[in-house]
Amino acid sequence: MCGIVGVLGNHEAAPILVEALKLLEYRGYDSAGIATVNKGQLNRRRAVGKLVNLSDLLVHEPLAGKAGIGHTRWATHGAANLSNTHPHRAGSVAVVHNGIIENYRDLRAELASNGIGHETDTDTETVALLTKHFMDNGASAEDAVKETLSRLDGAYALCFLFDGEEDLLIAARKGSPLAVGHGDGEMFVGSDAIALSPVTNRITYLEEGDCAVITRTSLKITDINGELANREIKTVQVGDTRVDKGGHKHFMAKEIAEQPMVISDLLQAYLSEDGHSIDLPEGGIDFNKIDRLTMVACGTAFYACLTAKYWFEQLAGIPVEVDIASEFRYREPPVAGRTTAVFVSQSGETADTLAALRYCEGRADSILSVVNVPESSIARESDLALPIYAGAEIGVASTKAFTCQLTVLLLLALKAAETKGRLSAEELTDKLSLLRGVPGAINQVLEADQTFRAATRLLAESDNALFLGRGLMFPLAYEGALKLKEISYIHAEAYASGELKHGPIALIDKKMPVVVMAPKDQLFDKTVSNMQEVMARGGKVLLITDREGAAEAGDGVCQSLIMPEIDPILTPILYALPAQLLAYHTAVAKGTDVDQPRNLAKSVTVE
Ligand code: F6R
Repeated sequence: MCGIVGVLGNHEAAPILVEALKLLEYRGYDSAGIATVNKGQLNRRRAVGKLVNLSDLLVHEPLAGKAGIGHTRWATHGAANLSNTHPHRAGSVAVVHNGIIENYRDLRAELASNGIGHETDTDTETVALLTKHFMDNGASAEDAVKETLSRLDGAYALCFLFDGEEDLLIAARKGSPLAVGHGDGEMFVGSDAIALSPVTNRITYLEEGDCAVITRTSLKITDINGELANREIKTVQVGDTRVDKGGHKHFMAKEIAEQPMVISDLLQAYLSEDGHSIDLPEGGIDFNKIDRLTMVACGTAFYACLTAKYWFEQLAGIPVEVDIASEFRYREPPVAGRTTAVFVSQSGETADTLAALRYCEGRADSILSVVNVPESSIARESDLALPIYAGAEIGVASTKAFTCQLTVLLLLALKAAETKGRLSAEELTDKLSLLRGVPGAINQVLEADQTFRAATRLLAESDNALFLGRGLMFPLAYEGALKLKEISYIHAEAYASGELKHGPIALIDKKMPVVVMAPKDQLFDKTVSNMQEVMARGGKVLLITDREGAAEAGDGVCQSLIMPEIDPILTPILYALPAQLLAYHTAVAKGTDVDQPRNLAKSVTVE
C-alpha cells in the first residue's frame, strides 16, 4: 500500500505534494511526510496519523523548495510512529517507498557488517542506506540506485531525492504501480494518475523493472535488462477526482446514496439504445468459445465473484471456479483450455489480484477484468477490461463499486446465457427491463433509511454478530459481515444457512444477533427452519426479507426489515443495500471512523 509522489516543479513543491497525497490517502493513512531540496539542502517534515497532521505541521514549519517527494503510509514494517514515517533519509539520500523489500533483514545484516546501523524498523531505510553506501564508494546517484535495485527482492515503487540536487528524481517500479507525469518544464511522479491529476494528465506508466532518471526537461527510462526503453506518453482522463461529500456526513453515505445513479449510468453504457441487447466494449467476448470461467479477486470483489458463480452457472450453464487471489496465486492451479480468467477489482491495483492475473497470462485463453479504474494495472494487462462506471469511491468500505461489479457481472452472465441459447431474445429483453428497475428499487430502500438506522441498536450493543444466507444470499451474508466488522469493529461471521448445524450454532445465545438475508424465493422455507433453530436457542433474529417473506416467517423474529419485491436473480444487487446501511448506521452509532477505519487502506498494493 502507501502512496508516493515526486515533484520537479517551477513552483513551491510542498503544496503540490500535499495535494497529491490527499488523493493518495486511500492507500494508507498511518502517517505522512515530505522532503524537499531548497538551496541545495535536503529537509523533511513528517507527522504521525492522517495527512491533516502533516498539513498542520507545515503551517507552523513550512518547507521551501521546488523539488520534493512525499509519502502517505500504511504501516508494513514497524509501528506507525515518527521514526518509521517516510521519507527515509540516509545522508544525502531520501526515499519514499510503496511495497515490501523481502530480503531487508539480509541486507541489514550486510550493512551492519560494514558498520552501518539502522535507526528505524522499516525495510525502506535499508534502501536509503544501501544507496548512500554505494554513493560513498564513488557511484553516481543513478548508478548507486541501480546497484541498490539489483540487490532488492520483493515489491517496490520507489522515488529518490538527493541533497544538493534540485533537478533530479530517480523512480523505479517492480510489483507496485508508478506513473511519471509530464508538465511544461516540470515533471512529476505518482503512485497513480489520479494523484497527478491536479498538475497534469500526460502520463507515462513505468513497466515492471523500469528505472526512470528524471529532470525537469528529460526522462530517461531503462528497462529490467538495463536497456534504454521508450514508453508512451498517454493522455489520461481520470475524471473529477476532487470529489466532496455532497452534503453527506461521510463519503460512505454519499456513495451508498449514489448507487441508483451510477447503476443507471452503467446500464446506459452497456445496453443498446432500444434496451434489448447488451453491448460489450470492442473486442467483446465470445461465450461459445468458453468452457469455463476462473474468477479471482479479494474482499468485497471476491464476494461479487461468488455471486456471479450462481448467475453464470444457473443462467448460462458455464462452470465457474472462484478463488481468493492470495490463495490462487501460490496454489499453481491448472488453468485448463477454453478457460477465461476473470479478475474483479475496484482499484485495479490489488497486488494479489494482479499477481493472479499474471499467473494466468499464457495459461488462460483470455483475460478479462472488471474494474473501476480504466487506467489501472489490472485493466492495462487484461485482454478486455470492462469498466463498472462507479466513479471515484473514497470510503474505504466498498459500496457502490460492489453493486456496480454485480451489475456488470450479471450483464455478462445474461450475455453468456443468450449466446449459449439458454435465454431467448424475448427473455433477455424481459430480464434487461427488470434490471432497469433496480435503481428505482434501490431508491425505495434508501427512502426507508430510518428503519435501518433504528434496527442497528441491536448490533451496536453487541460484541458479535452472525450473518446467514442461502443461494444468492450466501455471498451477500459474507459481504454484510465484512462491512460490519471493517467499519464498526464488531466481530461478525457469515455462514451459508445450511452450515449452521455443522458448528456455528454452538455460538447462539441471547447475546448473539443473527442477521438473516432471505427474500421469499424457492429456498425461503429452508432458511425459515434455520431461523427457528436460532430463535429456539435465544438468538435474536434480524430478518431482511420482502413483504411475503415477513408474513411467512412466523413469530419470534426480533425485527423484520422489509425490502421491495424484485426478480430473484436481481436480489444480490438490492440486498447489498441493507448490508451497507446496517454497517454504516452501526458504525455511526459507535462513533468509529467510517471513511477511514483503523488499520485499513483502500487499495492493497502489497501482498
Ligand atoms: C471491503 C473492501 C475490500 C476490497 C478488497 C479488494 O469493503 O473494500 O475488501 O474489496 O481490498 O479491493 P479491489 O476491489 O480494489 O481489488
